[in-house]
Amino acid sequence: MKHKEIPVYVNLVYEDQVNRLAQNENPYGPSPAATEAIKRNIHKISHYPDVVLTELKEKLAAKHEVTPDEIIVSNGSGAIIDYLVKRMLSHGENMVVPEITFVAYKLCAAIYDRECRLAPMADYSISLENVARCCDEKTRLIFLANPNNPTGTIFTHDEIAEFLLRIPPQTLVVLDDAYQEYVDHQHYPDSIQLYRKHPNVIILHSFSKIYGLAGLRIGYGIARHPIIEELEKNRLPFMVGSVANIAALAALDDKEHIRESARKNAHDREFLFNGLTALGYHVIPSQGNFLFISFPATAERDRMYDTLFANKMVVRKMEAFGHDRSLRISLGRHEDNIRLLECLRK
Ligand SMILES: Cc1ncc(COP(=O)(O)O)c(C=O)c1O
Repeated sequence: MKHKEIPVYVNLVYEDQVNRLAQNENPYGPSPAATEAIKRNIHKISHYPDVVLTELKEKLAAKHEVTPDEIIVSNGSGAIIDYLVKRMLSHGENMVVPEITFVAYKLCAAIYDRECRLAPMADYSISLENVARCCDEKTRLIFLANPNNPTGTIFTHDEIAEFLLRIPPQTLVVLDDAYQEYVDHQHYPDSIQLYRKHPNVIILHSFSKIYGLAGLRIGYGIARHPIIEELEKNRLPFMVGSVANIAALAALDDKEHIRESARKNAHDREFLFNGLTALGYHVIPSQGNFLFISFPATAERDRMYDTLFANKMVVRKMEAFGHDRSLRISLGRHEDNIRLLECLRK
Protein backbone atom coordinates (compact mmCIF):
# COMPACT_ATOMS: atom_id res chain seq x y z
CA MET A 1 0.00 0.00 0.00
CA LYS A 2 1.68 3.21 -1.15
CA HIS A 3 0.43 6.76 -0.53
CA LYS A 4 -0.45 7.54 -4.06
CA GLU A 5 -2.74 4.58 -4.22
CA ILE A 6 -5.13 5.97 -1.64
CA PRO A 7 -5.77 9.67 -1.82
CA VAL A 8 -7.80 10.73 1.21
CA TYR A 9 -10.99 11.27 -0.74
CA VAL A 10 -10.86 8.06 -2.77
CA ASN A 11 -10.10 5.48 -0.15
CA LEU A 12 -13.42 3.67 0.11
CA VAL A 13 -11.91 0.50 -1.25
CA TYR A 14 -9.37 0.53 1.55
CA GLU A 15 -11.80 1.52 4.25
CA ASP A 16 -11.31 -1.65 6.27
CA GLN A 17 -7.55 -1.60 5.90
CA VAL A 18 -6.81 1.86 7.20
CA ASN A 19 -7.59 3.89 10.25
CA ARG A 20 -9.41 6.98 9.03
CA LEU A 21 -7.89 9.88 10.91
CA ALA A 22 -7.94 12.39 8.07
CA GLN A 23 -11.46 13.76 7.74
CA ASN A 24 -12.76 14.69 11.20
CA GLU A 25 -15.50 12.06 11.08
CA ASN A 26 -17.17 10.61 14.14
CA PRO A 27 -15.17 7.41 14.87
CA TYR A 28 -18.12 6.03 16.84
CA GLY A 29 -20.34 6.13 13.78
CA PRO A 30 -23.85 7.49 13.39
CA SER A 31 -26.65 7.35 15.94
CA PRO A 32 -28.17 3.84 16.03
CA ALA A 33 -31.54 5.60 15.77
CA ALA A 34 -30.44 7.06 12.43
CA THR A 35 -29.34 3.68 11.05
CA GLU A 36 -32.61 2.10 12.20
CA ALA A 37 -34.62 4.87 10.52
CA ILE A 38 -32.66 4.34 7.30
CA LYS A 39 -33.34 0.60 7.35
CA ARG A 40 -37.05 1.14 7.97
CA ASN A 41 -37.34 3.56 5.05
CA ILE A 42 -34.85 2.19 2.56
CA HIS A 43 -37.58 1.03 0.16
CA LYS A 44 -38.48 4.69 -0.41
CA ILE A 45 -35.34 5.43 -2.39
CA SER A 46 -37.25 5.08 -5.64
CA HIS A 47 -39.15 8.26 -4.70
CA TYR A 48 -37.80 11.75 -5.12
CA PRO A 49 -37.22 13.33 -1.71
CA ASP A 50 -39.37 15.91 0.02
CA VAL A 51 -38.36 19.05 -1.82
CA VAL A 52 -39.28 21.51 0.93
CA LEU A 53 -38.03 19.42 3.87
CA THR A 54 -40.78 20.79 6.09
CA GLU A 55 -40.32 18.42 9.00
CA LEU A 56 -36.55 18.80 9.17
CA LYS A 57 -36.70 22.58 8.87
CA GLU A 58 -39.31 22.72 11.63
CA LYS A 59 -37.19 20.56 13.88
CA LEU A 60 -34.07 22.62 13.23
CA ALA A 61 -36.00 25.85 13.71
CA ALA A 62 -37.28 24.62 17.08
CA LYS A 63 -33.78 23.55 18.12
CA HIS A 64 -32.31 26.97 17.36
CA GLU A 65 -35.40 29.02 18.24
CA VAL A 66 -35.77 30.56 14.78
CA THR A 67 -38.46 30.13 12.13
CA PRO A 68 -38.29 27.46 9.38
CA ASP A 69 -37.95 30.15 6.72
CA GLU A 70 -34.63 31.14 8.28
CA ILE A 71 -33.20 27.70 7.48
CA ILE A 72 -31.58 26.31 4.36
CA VAL A 73 -30.77 22.59 4.21
CA SER A 74 -28.34 21.30 1.65
CA ASN A 75 -26.15 18.41 0.62
CA GLY A 76 -23.53 19.21 3.23
CA SER A 77 -22.80 22.63 4.70
CA GLY A 78 -20.00 22.76 2.13
CA ALA A 79 -22.67 23.26 -0.53
CA ILE A 80 -23.95 26.32 1.34
CA ILE A 81 -20.43 27.75 1.39
CA ASP A 82 -20.42 27.23 -2.36
CA TYR A 83 -23.81 28.99 -2.83
CA LEU A 84 -22.71 31.90 -0.67
CA VAL A 85 -19.55 32.55 -2.64
CA LYS A 86 -21.37 32.05 -5.94
CA ARG A 87 -24.39 34.25 -5.15
CA MET A 88 -23.26 36.82 -2.62
CA LEU A 89 -19.89 37.82 -3.98
CA SER A 90 -19.54 39.61 -7.32
CA HIS A 91 -16.42 40.21 -9.36
CA GLY A 92 -14.62 43.25 -7.99
CA GLU A 93 -15.72 42.43 -4.44
CA ASN A 94 -13.76 40.32 -1.98
CA MET A 95 -14.09 37.80 0.82
CA VAL A 96 -11.85 37.46 3.87
CA VAL A 97 -10.83 34.23 5.62
CA PRO A 98 -8.12 33.39 8.18
CA GLU A 99 -4.86 32.29 6.61
CA ILE A 100 -5.04 28.73 8.01
CA THR A 101 -8.59 27.51 7.77
CA PHE A 102 -11.06 25.14 6.12
CA VAL A 103 -9.97 24.69 2.52
CA ALA A 104 -13.48 24.92 1.00
CA TYR A 105 -13.71 28.69 1.52
CA LYS A 106 -10.62 29.35 -0.58
CA LEU A 107 -11.55 26.62 -3.01
CA CYS A 108 -14.92 28.22 -3.76
CA ALA A 109 -13.25 31.60 -4.28
CA ALA A 110 -10.89 29.94 -6.75
CA ILE A 111 -13.72 28.08 -8.52
CA TYR A 112 -15.70 31.29 -9.06
CA ASP A 113 -12.62 33.41 -9.62
CA ARG A 114 -13.37 35.73 -6.69
CA GLU A 115 -10.84 37.62 -4.59
CA CYS A 116 -10.09 35.87 -1.29
CA ARG A 117 -8.00 37.76 1.26
CA LEU A 118 -6.07 35.82 3.88
CA ALA A 119 -5.88 37.30 7.37
CA PRO A 120 -2.67 36.37 9.25
CA MET A 121 -3.09 34.08 12.26
CA ALA A 122 -2.00 34.89 15.78
CA ASP A 123 -0.07 31.85 16.99
CA TYR A 124 -2.37 29.42 15.10
CA SER A 125 -5.54 31.11 16.40
CA ILE A 126 -7.84 33.23 14.29
CA SER A 127 -6.99 36.90 14.84
CA LEU A 128 -10.28 38.77 14.50
CA GLU A 129 -8.23 41.95 14.59
CA ASN A 130 -6.34 40.84 11.46
CA VAL A 131 -9.57 39.73 9.79
CA ALA A 132 -11.11 43.16 10.41
CA ARG A 133 -7.98 44.84 9.03
CA CYS A 134 -8.24 42.89 5.77
CA CYS A 135 -11.78 44.14 5.16
CA ASP A 136 -12.72 47.18 3.11
CA GLU A 137 -15.88 48.60 1.54
CA LYS A 138 -15.73 45.82 -1.10
CA THR A 139 -15.77 42.96 1.43
CA ARG A 140 -19.01 41.01 1.10
CA LEU A 141 -18.22 37.79 2.97
CA ILE A 142 -16.17 36.67 5.94
CA PHE A 143 -15.89 32.98 6.86
CA LEU A 144 -14.99 32.09 10.45
CA ALA A 145 -14.86 28.45 11.49
CA ASN A 146 -15.16 28.16 15.26
CA PRO A 147 -13.52 25.87 16.33
CA ASN A 148 -11.22 26.59 13.46
CA ASN A 149 -10.47 23.67 11.19
CA PRO A 150 -7.59 22.67 11.23
CA THR A 151 -6.05 24.42 14.25
CA GLY A 152 -8.91 23.61 16.67
CA THR A 153 -8.76 26.99 18.40
CA ILE A 154 -11.81 29.10 19.23
CA PHE A 155 -12.63 32.77 19.65
CA THR A 156 -14.89 33.68 22.57
CA HIS A 157 -18.33 35.24 22.67
CA ASP A 158 -17.03 38.63 23.77
CA GLU A 159 -14.36 38.65 21.07
CA ILE A 160 -16.77 37.94 18.23
CA ALA A 161 -19.42 40.26 19.70
CA GLU A 162 -16.93 43.10 19.68
CA PHE A 163 -15.77 42.17 16.16
CA LEU A 164 -19.32 42.20 14.80
CA LEU A 165 -19.79 45.78 15.98
CA ARG A 166 -16.91 46.78 13.69
CA ILE A 167 -18.25 45.04 10.57
CA PRO A 168 -20.65 46.98 8.35
CA PRO A 169 -24.11 45.48 7.63
CA GLN A 170 -23.37 44.84 3.94
CA THR A 171 -20.62 42.37 4.89
CA LEU A 172 -21.99 38.90 5.66
CA VAL A 173 -20.23 37.16 8.52
CA VAL A 174 -20.48 33.38 8.33
CA LEU A 175 -20.05 31.65 11.69
CA ASP A 176 -19.24 28.10 10.70
CA ASP A 177 -20.14 26.01 13.75
CA ALA A 178 -19.50 22.59 12.18
CA TYR A 179 -17.67 21.38 15.32
CA GLN A 180 -19.75 23.24 17.90
CA GLU A 181 -20.95 20.13 19.74
CA TYR A 182 -17.38 19.19 20.65
CA VAL A 183 -16.63 22.45 22.45
CA ASP A 184 -16.48 22.55 26.23
CA HIS A 185 -14.99 26.03 26.65
CA GLN A 186 -17.28 28.14 28.83
CA HIS A 187 -16.85 31.33 26.78
CA TYR A 188 -17.68 29.74 23.43
CA PRO A 189 -20.01 32.07 21.49
CA ASP A 190 -23.77 31.82 21.58
CA SER A 191 -24.07 32.21 17.82
CA ILE A 192 -27.85 32.49 17.84
CA GLN A 193 -27.73 35.40 20.23
CA LEU A 194 -25.29 37.16 17.88
CA TYR A 195 -27.46 36.27 14.90
CA ARG A 196 -30.50 37.87 16.54
CA LYS A 197 -28.59 41.07 17.04
CA HIS A 198 -26.86 41.20 13.64
CA PRO A 199 -28.86 40.56 10.44
CA ASN A 200 -25.58 40.05 8.55
CA VAL A 201 -24.68 36.93 10.55
CA ILE A 202 -25.12 33.51 8.94
CA ILE A 203 -24.62 30.30 10.92
CA LEU A 204 -23.60 26.97 9.39
CA HIS A 205 -24.01 23.50 10.87
CA SER A 206 -23.07 20.08 9.58
CA PHE A 207 -24.42 16.58 10.10
CA SER A 208 -21.03 15.21 8.99
CA LYS A 209 -19.17 15.64 12.25
CA ILE A 210 -20.61 14.64 15.61
CA TYR A 211 -23.82 13.32 14.00
CA GLY A 212 -21.73 10.83 12.04
CA LEU A 213 -23.59 11.24 8.73
CA ALA A 214 -20.74 12.47 6.51
CA GLY A 215 -21.46 9.92 3.80
CA LEU A 216 -25.05 11.11 3.41
CA ARG A 217 -24.07 14.73 2.71
CA ILE A 218 -26.38 16.93 4.72
CA GLY A 219 -25.89 20.24 6.52
CA TYR A 220 -27.79 23.48 7.07
CA GLY A 221 -27.52 27.19 7.45
CA ILE A 222 -29.42 29.81 9.45
CA ALA A 223 -29.85 33.28 7.98
CA ARG A 224 -32.41 36.04 7.61
CA HIS A 225 -35.20 35.05 5.23
CA PRO A 226 -34.16 37.31 2.30
CA ILE A 227 -30.73 35.67 2.30
CA ILE A 228 -32.26 32.20 2.44
CA GLU A 229 -34.61 33.13 -0.41
CA GLU A 230 -31.74 34.39 -2.52
CA LEU A 231 -29.83 31.15 -2.02
CA GLU A 232 -32.89 28.91 -2.52
CA LYS A 233 -34.04 30.48 -5.74
CA ASN A 234 -30.65 30.02 -7.32
CA ARG A 235 -30.18 26.32 -6.86
CA LEU A 236 -31.79 23.21 -8.24
CA PRO A 237 -34.44 21.42 -6.17
CA PHE A 238 -33.92 17.97 -4.64
CA MET A 239 -30.39 18.64 -3.41
CA VAL A 240 -31.00 16.66 -0.21
CA GLY A 241 -31.67 12.94 -0.58
CA SER A 242 -34.53 11.25 1.25
CA VAL A 243 -32.20 8.94 3.20
CA ALA A 244 -30.19 11.92 4.43
CA ASN A 245 -33.38 13.67 5.50
CA ILE A 246 -34.65 10.62 7.38
CA ALA A 247 -31.32 10.01 9.08
CA ALA A 248 -30.93 13.65 10.12
CA LEU A 249 -34.41 13.68 11.67
CA ALA A 250 -33.63 10.60 13.74
CA ALA A 251 -30.11 11.77 14.66
CA LEU A 252 -31.42 15.07 16.00
CA ASP A 253 -33.53 13.18 18.52
CA ASP A 254 -30.67 11.01 19.76
CA LYS A 255 -29.21 13.37 22.36
CA GLU A 256 -27.43 10.49 24.07
CA HIS A 257 -25.37 9.75 20.97
CA ILE A 258 -24.24 13.37 20.79
CA ARG A 259 -23.47 13.53 24.51
CA GLU A 260 -21.48 10.29 24.48
CA SER A 261 -19.58 11.19 21.31
CA ALA A 262 -18.63 14.57 22.80
CA ARG A 263 -17.64 13.01 26.13
CA LYS A 264 -15.40 10.37 24.56
CA ASN A 265 -13.92 12.96 22.22
CA ALA A 266 -13.06 15.35 25.07
CA HIS A 267 -11.42 12.50 27.00
CA ASP A 268 -9.31 11.42 24.05
CA ARG A 269 -8.52 14.95 22.97
CA GLU A 270 -6.77 15.43 26.30
CA PHE A 271 -5.25 11.96 26.21
CA LEU A 272 -3.73 12.39 22.75
CA PHE A 273 -2.73 16.01 23.36
CA ASN A 274 -0.82 14.98 26.51
CA GLY A 275 0.71 11.95 24.81
CA LEU A 276 1.93 13.89 21.78
CA THR A 277 3.17 16.79 23.88
CA ALA A 278 5.09 14.37 26.11
CA LEU A 279 6.77 13.05 22.96
CA GLY A 280 7.96 16.59 22.25
CA TYR A 281 5.54 17.59 19.52
CA HIS A 282 4.12 21.09 19.23
CA VAL A 283 0.38 20.45 19.49
CA ILE A 284 -2.19 23.24 19.52
CA PRO A 285 -4.85 22.88 22.25
CA SER A 286 -8.06 21.98 20.44
CA GLN A 287 -11.79 22.33 21.01
CA GLY A 288 -12.64 20.16 17.99
CA ASN A 289 -12.43 16.45 17.20
CA PHE A 290 -8.90 16.78 15.81
CA LEU A 291 -5.43 17.97 16.80
CA PHE A 292 -3.07 20.17 14.82
CA ILE A 293 0.66 19.52 15.07
CA SER A 294 3.11 22.10 13.81
CA PHE A 295 6.62 20.95 12.86
CA PRO A 296 9.82 22.98 12.52
CA ALA A 297 10.26 21.66 8.96
CA THR A 298 8.23 19.93 6.26
CA ALA A 299 10.59 16.94 6.26
CA GLU A 300 9.78 16.22 9.92
CA ARG A 301 6.11 16.44 9.19
CA ASP A 302 6.53 13.99 6.32
CA ARG A 303 8.37 11.60 8.61
CA MET A 304 5.44 11.41 10.99
CA TYR A 305 2.98 11.12 8.13
CA ASP A 306 4.97 8.27 6.59
CA THR A 307 5.39 6.46 9.90
CA LEU A 308 1.67 6.58 10.55
CA PHE A 309 0.85 5.68 6.99
CA ALA A 310 3.12 2.65 7.11
CA ASN A 311 1.07 1.58 10.12
CA LYS A 312 -2.18 2.10 8.22
CA MET A 313 -3.16 5.34 9.92
CA VAL A 314 -4.12 8.07 7.47
CA VAL A 315 -3.84 11.63 8.79
CA ARG A 316 -3.93 14.86 6.79
CA LYS A 317 -1.22 17.19 5.54
CA MET A 318 -2.33 20.79 5.70
CA GLU A 319 -0.90 22.48 2.61
CA ALA A 320 -4.32 23.04 1.10
CA PHE A 321 -5.48 24.62 4.35
CA GLY A 322 -2.59 27.09 4.33
CA HIS A 323 0.30 25.49 6.22
CA ASP A 324 3.03 23.21 4.85
CA ARG A 325 4.66 22.15 8.12
CA SER A 326 1.72 20.60 9.88
CA LEU A 327 -0.49 17.57 10.22
CA ARG A 328 -4.05 17.35 11.41
CA ILE A 329 -4.94 14.18 13.25
CA SER A 330 -8.65 13.44 13.61
CA LEU A 331 -9.35 11.79 16.94
CA GLY A 332 -10.10 8.12 16.59
CA ARG A 333 -11.48 5.72 19.18
CA HIS A 334 -9.47 5.36 22.35
CA GLU A 335 -7.74 2.21 21.11
CA ASP A 336 -6.77 4.02 17.87
CA ASN A 337 -5.25 6.87 19.82
CA ILE A 338 -3.28 4.47 22.02
CA ARG A 339 -1.99 2.70 18.93
CA LEU A 340 -1.02 5.99 17.32
CA LEU A 341 1.03 7.01 20.34
CA GLU A 342 2.66 3.57 20.56
CA CYS A 343 3.58 3.75 16.93
CA LEU A 344 5.22 7.17 17.36
CA ARG A 345 7.05 6.09 20.54
CA LYS A 346 8.76 3.31 18.57
C1 LIG B 1 -15.27 24.06 9.30
C2 LIG B 1 -16.04 23.18 8.38
N1 LIG B 1 -17.16 23.63 7.82
C3 LIG B 1 -17.88 22.89 6.98
C4 LIG B 1 -17.50 21.61 6.66
C5 LIG B 1 -18.29 20.88 5.63
O1 LIG B 1 -18.99 19.86 6.11
P1 LIG B 1 -20.11 19.10 5.23
O2 LIG B 1 -20.13 19.70 3.87
O3 LIG B 1 -19.69 17.69 5.25
O4 LIG B 1 -21.41 19.37 5.96
C6 LIG B 1 -16.34 21.07 7.21
C7 LIG B 1 -15.90 19.72 6.86
O5 LIG B 1 -14.81 19.29 7.11
C8 LIG B 1 -15.59 21.88 8.10
O6 LIG B 1 -14.44 21.44 8.63
